[in-house]
Amino acid sequence: MATIRDVAARAGVSVATVSRVLNGNGYVNKETARRVRRAIQELNYRPNMVARGLANRKTGTLAVILPDIKNPFFSELARAVEDTARTGGFTVIFCNSDDLGSREKSYIEVLRQKYIDGIIIASNTLGEADVAYINDNDIPLVVLDRGPGVGDCAVFRAKNADGAKMAVRHLLDAGCRKVAHIAGPEELVTARERLKGYREVAGAFPWFDESLIVPGRFSVEGGKEAVRRLLERHPDVDGIFAGNDLMAIGALKALQRMGIKVPDQVSICGFDGVEMTEWTEPELTTVAQPIYEMGAEATRYLIDRVRGKAEPKAVVELDVRLIQRGSTRRGAD
Ligand code: RIB
Repeated sequence: MATIRDVAARAGVSVATVSRVLNGNGYVNKETARRVRRAIQELNYRPNMVARGLANRKTGTLAVILPDIKNPFFSELARAVEDTARTGGFTVIFCNSDDLGSREKSYIEVLRQKYIDGIIIASNTLGEADVAYINDNDIPLVVLDRGPGVGDCAVFRAKNADGAKMAVRHLLDAGCRKVAHIAGPEELVTARERLKGYREVAGAFPWFDESLIVPGRFSVEGGKEAVRRLLERHPDVDGIFAGNDLMAIGALKALQRMGIKVPDQVSICGFDGVEMTEWTEPELTTVAQPIYEMGAEATRYLIDRVRGKAEPKAVVELDVRLIQRGSTRRGAD
């Protein structure tokens, strides 16, 4: 295995010059740089990323910490991050936190010791002290979807409350006379913002009651259980806004198992816009987050931060859009 010394000897330069060519910092004249690159190619030299990290604290690696890579929202987000990072010349390490603060903290410590260049995290437990610790270790930080807007970090998230209002108004425009909400976990800011949007619209109607709000844990099973509880309480509900697509899919399955026709008897609208919503029958109407755009924009921002070209602090709220499909069309084709 060729070393940096072998490359220097082959190119007739110092180790420091080879290092400058590898790290793209400091001046090297064109001819010398060409000789170094040729020697790297001829010797098939592969720099030791950890050693490089020790030398200049840069490893060309970003880390992404997500709650649950199985959830299609996060896997679609991860795809965008990796594509954009690769285009920017960075590799990516993915970490699954299951929304556990202890696991997030241990990942952050391991990544700090490996001189990670930057961190993207979707977290519900990251606190001000955690952000300060990451800042104190000069690790650029971008928070996605959920998480604190505190300290030196940039937050990229969707306009959740606006999207929820859009969903409820669409169900009412589609002819629904009583709209319920399957809510995500109340400890997640995204779920709370969508619940707030639902209440702002539905709360204005005489039929509204708090018992029209049922928890669904952002999961398919949670959506199924929620529908059963909801229809026991309110058999006349004819519209359901689910706080994410997985719960909407669960609700759809439960209604169909109960012999209830969607959309003719009950219309359903989800939130996220994951690809899976196209696979159901009928296909799901949903409020789509710009998932790929959010992941790509956040990654470009982080790379700029790593290169010292972006401010530490920013809040970027991205627009959502309604995608109307068969689960809310009445008297459909
Ligand atoms: O489906 C997972 C949910 O958690 C999404 O709505 C996303 O916004 C995240 O908050």
